[in-house]
Amino acid sequence: MSTKKPIRVAVTGAAGNIGYALLFRIASGAMLGPDQPVILQLLEIPVEGPQKALKGVAMELEDCAFPLLQDMILTGDAEVAFKDVNWALLVGSKPRGPGMERADLLKDNGKIFIAQGQAIDKVAADDARVAVVGNPCNTNVMIAAAQAKRLSADRFTAMVRLDENRGRAQLAKKAGVSINEVSDLYIYGNHSPTMFADFTHTKIGGKAAADVIGDEAWLKTDFLPAVGKRGAAIIEARGVSSAASAANALIDHVRDLTTVGKVHSVAVKSEGRYGFNPDVWAGMPVKTTATGHEVIDSYEMDDFAKSKIALTNDELVGERETIKDLLA
Ligand code: NAD
Ligand code: LMR
Repeated sequence: MSTKKPIRVAVTGAAGNIGYALLFRIASGAMLGPDQPVILQLLEIPVEGPQKALKGVAMELEDCAFPLLQDMILTGDAEVAFKDVNWALLVGSKPRGPGMERADLLKDNGKIFIAQGQAIDKVAADDARVAVVGNPCNTNVMIAAAQAKRLSADRFTAMVRLDENRGRAQLAKKAGVSINEVSDLYIYGNHSPTMFADFTHTKIGGKAAADVIGDEAWLKTDFLPAVGKRGAAIIEARGVSSAASAANALIDHVRDLTTVGKVHSVAVKSEGRYGFNPDVWAGMPVKTTATGHEVIDSYEMDDFAKSKIALTNDELVGERETIKDLLA
């Protein structure tokens, strides 16, 4: 049995679709390691249906007899859910339906992150880190961070890892190689169709992806929109939004943010890097260090990449403007 101190992980929207695909993997050790005990602090909206469903999920977690799962707290109160947490995974919020853009969720979902940011500020551990999944995640993380000034902005991230995983899978398929051959694909900007999946620095089998694919037009006009609109394609096919792949990406996001040396795509406060507005959270390559993470800001962008980054930056600035009242 592990003698490590348990890590407290809060998950919001724990009885939802992503929650159901996520909690069992956290409890199994897939996210924080095979010898790291965890305490799950699970938040659902405080009404009968979701609370009852949450109890059912907790019963199943119990029935897995996970050796690493030390305790579970089920609650409808954000201050209970975030009490002393080391990681807060903010999933709970409305998903979009067919025909909607993620930004259409801003008005409904934005306010959730005010209350949760305030509760995190009040009760989370001093070393707490926050990962936002609920859409539109780049802007929701900004709202939460604005309310939780006790923690520095670099403790707040949003998830663009699903987009990186999608992009790597598409390139591997096109090149007819294993996914393990595709490296250095990073997502810049918003988790929306404007995102820029930077194939210009990507490698396939150690060679420039553009040379291996040998079809620049495909990269620009097929690959980029396919990655950017993959979420909508899944909603169209399933009738509901991606859940298992989103949960898997969140596991990757947190695992790699806690594994020194890993480089992956994370939406962080831009601080002006790559020409983004300093106050928006934008996807970019991030490297995990012993104390946190640092942005890799040394990639040279060509004019095409710069134009794509400008477009996704404009959208992020527009979203920020829409919710500026929620930042006070
Ligand atoms: P879902 O509707 O199945 O589950 C959401 C759960 O959140 C529900 O159980 C609901 O009761 C709960 N909830 C709502 N408001 C809450 C609040 N204030 N506090 C606590 N719980 C609350 O949705 P889902 O499929 O699990 O998706 C959740 C979110 O994740 C959506 O916004 C979706 O768009 C987003 N998402 C993001 C990515 C990404 O890559 N960033 C990928 C997939 C989905
Ligand atoms: C996704 O990318 O699958 C999620 O953000 C869900 C959505 O609305 O597309």
